[in-house]
Amino acid sequence: MSINYQDRIPNNVDLGSNRTLQRALEHWQPEFLKWWEDLGPKDFQVADVYLRTATSVDAKGWATYGYVRMPEYRWGIFLNERDPNRRIGFGDNYGQEVWQQIPGEYRATLRRLIVTQGDTEPASVEQQRMLGHTAPSLYDLRNLFQVNVEEGRHLWAMVYLLHAYFGRDGREEAEELLERHSGDTNKPRILGTFNEPIRDWLSFFMFTYFTDRDGKFQLKSLAESSFDPLARTCQFMLTEEAHHMFVGDTGINRVVKRTLEVMKELNSDDSQVIRNAGAIDLPTVQRYLNFWFTSSLDLFGSETSSNAASYFANGLKGRPDEAQYEDHVAIEQSYQLDLPDGSGGTKSEQIPMRNAMNEVTRGSYVRDCEIGVKRWNRLIEKSGHSFRLTLPSTRFRRSIGNWAGVPTTPEGVAISAEQFAAHKQQWLPSESDQAFILSLMHGVHQPGKMAAWIAPPDRGINNNPVDYEYVKLH
Ligand SMILES: [Fe+2]
Ligand SMILES: [Fe+2]
Repeated sequence: MSINYQDRIPNNVDLGSNRTLQRALEHWQPEFLKWWEDLGPKDFQVADVYLRTATSVDAKGWATYGYVRMPEYRWGIFLNERDPNRRIGFGDNYGQEVWQQIPGEYRATLRRLIVTQGDTEPASVEQQRMLGHTAPSLYDLRNLFQVNVEEGRHLWAMVYLLHAYFGRDGREEAEELLERHSGDTNKPRILGTFNEPIRDWLSFFMFTYFTDRDGKFQLKSLAESSFDPLARTCQFMLTEEAHHMFVGDTGINRVVKRTLEVMKELNSDDSQVIRNAGAIDLPTVQRYLNFWFTSSLDLFGSETSSNAASYFANGLKGRPDEAQYEDHVAIEQSYQLDLPDGSGGTKSEQIPMRNAMNEVTRGSYVRDCEIGVKRWNRLIEKSGHSFRLTLPSTRFRRSIGNWAGVPTTPEGVAISAEQFAAHKQQWLPSESDQAFILSLMHGVHQPGKMAAWIAPPDRGINNNPVDYEYVKLH
């Protein structure tokens, strides 16, 4: 399963043996490159960036590091190795052989799932395209570009499946993935969160922590799929995704660390005093967290979903880490949901487990999100402050599902619309918060230098020092 870098499109799927498919993808390749030039990172296309590139899909030989101009990055098609003994892991066909081709009856549904996943990948590159100008360091600039090129590769991962398994419809979908654009009024990206521009680095770190983590859980669900090529491509994407969440986790950690240093220096926890010193006060970090966490929660869909039930029944999309569950058929179990009762309270409802799969996945996601929050809080606690960052309730500020449009406190207590409006500034980034954060955003492009609102990372990339010239600007 070594990767063939001789072909125009690097791959480990023996692309050369299927001339028709190879030609179709070679036709799509220049369109992708044009999209990258037009809507990829603005003004940094000629910079030499210290990037990692996949060299093999096994755990040992994952990557090589070296300077690459982004348009010359070797985007390609990398699937995890096929396990000839792999069996369907859940649903009505549990235990049967996995599919190497798509059963006709699931074609439309699988295409939709693949297109929806594929659409988020280039969307995030478009959302982040202006961030290079305001990177707080060359280290961060390089991480941004690493995330961007890998999201581009994730698009390739989905486009390969569309081309290889869906014939003409698939090729058309692949073209449309380059025609929809984040925030475009006529042809927006499919999911709401991916149409929000990311103008500042606090949002970028929140996005890579919370929204890329949604990606992780979607990929984990698809990595369970009975459609084996989809499962294998998602397994490899997950190894790339891990770095994106690392960027978010350590980014927020460094923001908090710097804020605590300033709080100590000035012996104050007054937000205005912290801001005057050019750092980000912790309540503002909390408001950004509230925004991005809740916006990412919506990506899992409604609590009760007949689509989710049929994806599970048919073996298209499983639960993340399906092997950890005892019952992989889940036909007799039920799930207890807390729903708004319409008069300010909650009511409990039992629903069939299969219909609750979105909620099950969201629950795993929330638990995963908590890990970083605990780590950030340990820093705060060690500095002797009582402030704690918290994940808001999954009922708070929801736009999708049973709690959509129900005003609640961050703790999830239903309140009136007037009460919500009165507290909104406390709970979510206000215009003045956003203006303040934007006022901090100035590019720091000398090796080893950091913007004043963020601490340096503990270590550099690939054993290089923090002051390594991670991006050579010309
Ligand atoms: Fe991705
Ligand atoms: Fe990602």
